[in-house]
Amino acid sequence: MHGALANAGHRVLAPDDAEVEAYLETALHAPPPERDPEDQPKSSALPGADATAPDSVVVLDFGGQFAQLIARRVRELNVYSELLPHDTPYAELIRRGAKGVILSGGPMSVYDEGAPKPDPAIWSGRIPVLGICYGAQLMALELGGDVAAAGHREYGPATIQITADDGVFAGMAREQPVWMSHGDSITRLPAGFVASAQTDSSPFAGLFDAKRRLYGIQFHPEVAHTPRGKDVLRNFVAGIAGARQTWTSANFIESTVAEIRERVDAHARETNSDGRVICALSGGVDSAVAAALVHRAVGDRLTCIYVDHGLMRKRESELLRETFAANLGMDLVMVDARARFLARLAGVEDPEQKRRIIGDEFIHVFEEEAAKLGQIDFLTQGTLYPDVIESTTPETKTAQKIKTHHNVGGLPANLRFKLIEPLRYLFKDEVRQVGLEMGLPEAMVMRQPFPGPGLAIRILGEVTSERLDTLRDADWIVMDEIKAAGLYRSLWQSFAILTPVRSVGVMGDGRTYANVVAIRAVTSEDGMTADWAKLPYDVLGKISSRIVNEVPGVNRVVYDISSKPPATIEWE
Ligand code: XMP
Repeated sequence: MHGALANAGHRVLAPDDAEVEAYLETALHAPPPERDPEDQPKSSALPGADATAPDSVVVLDFGGQFAQLIARRVRELNVYSELLPHDTPYAELIRRGAKGVILSGGPMSVYDEGAPKPDPAIWSGRIPVLGICYGAQLMALELGGDVAAAGHREYGPATIQITADDGVFAGMAREQPVWMSHGDSITRLPAGFVASAQTDSSPFAGLFDAKRRLYGIQFHPEVAHTPRGKDVLRNFVAGIAGARQTWTSANFIESTVAEIRERVDAHARETNSDGRVICALSGGVDSAVAAALVHRAVGDRLTCIYVDHGLMRKRESELLRETFAANLGMDLVMVDARARFLARLAGVEDPEQKRRIIGDEFIHVFEEEAAKLGQIDFLTQGTLYPDVIESTTPETKTAQKIKTHHNVGGLPANLRFKLIEPLRYLFKDEVRQVGLEMGLPEAMVMRQPFPGPGLAIRILGEVTSERLDTLRDADWIVMDEIKAAGLYRSLWQSFAILTPVRSVGVMGDGRTYANVVAIRAVTSEDGMTADWAKLPYDVLGKISSRIVNEVPGVNRVVYDISSKPPATIEWE
């Protein structure tokens, strides 16, 4: 079978943690997660705050590519925002106490057959509504206005003239650069509406009915290309909808810790157990932050297991031990399984075979360790918000499947672990914020994704202790120079690969015949597609000369200039 297909099933969207967690779930025969679809964050626990939950603004998802981004932008305003399916019943929005509703954009035309529509009660005026792009067109059409295929499609940058500077445009200059992406346009306003903005080709780039608190905008305020987009969202969220801006890392930590403690205590009382919790640390940010939260809640009733498979990068396992055992005083079981993994990988060259062996060995190690711990009541997982969103877009649906890969039914109900998923409301950037706020080291919190099978899939050919050392040293230099150049955070991943190729070189007076190391650096939004990074030549030059000079056994460095597709990010 062709390479790309052969690998497809083993590559995950949210790398490292997802994979290591999956090993643990399998080893412990954890049941598939049962999540309450009505789940919402509990008390914001602000001193002096009387409400029991953070205010929330709901984004209804009409399939637009930026729907998640809208929710993230609202959260950046410190207001909790969740993404719900476009047809969520209005009663549910009321029940959730939504302060405002934002209708996302979408790929369809409002006239298409099967074009997604919201519950019509949404126009009642009880909760303020902001329609964006497709959402604004729906608002116009459903309330009696007209939408037509624009004679002039607008894609990309445009300038709007603001004609009504209250509402969503409060405090903004009359002329604003914005980002447009629409084929249809609003051609007639519904009764009760007035125009608030226009462009050369759209007379109604903004519309509103202040009485019913319904606002529509044709452009995308959530993207960076709309420089004042955040102010537009703030005007709606904090101004018109009146949501309190209390969704902060500090509040989240406080309420989450209290909630976990309550849950574990209640379970322990009911079942007369100790309320023991287990967590797999992978070295990645999600499991680290999840563990830190649970530890703050239940202290030494949490046991973390970290399997050192010997395939980690330089100093990574030490950092983990220092952080969790030494600094946080956590009960950390570090299993030194390096020899076991190496023994099983001896002589293995096939990438998928390596993955299978590593996964299988992980499960064995966990099973052995868990057996030593006795009764465990809860399993902690670093599931993130994008994994639990019930979405209308096929990509997110596929992403969701990654977590439901095994289905171990049939265990008696009382033997089942309960899941603690403290990050299930958070986006990745929020997890990082929480991690920093809890004092986790930046190197862990800001770490680029790293695959579960580790360096084994960056050594082409057989994995040996010697080759691991060579790659670790080369990789360290890549990371060091990329960080020194201030590029680490702007790259999705940057790393070294040890190729199976040896080449001839000359060092001093002698001929060498040594390893070729490849450098890979990519930019990407989500790892599904990626572009090779246009690293500055001087950075590449420094990396190259340092590797050849400092890493024994390497005499040549090459740079990988392939994008994904057709290549993948990892070489195996
Ligand atoms: P590819 O190589 O498929 O990688 O372009 C996409 C993202 O997934 C990571 N990756 C993995 N993560 N186990 C993992 O946990 C794996 O076997 C694996 N293979 C690739 C890769 O690092 C990138 O971020």
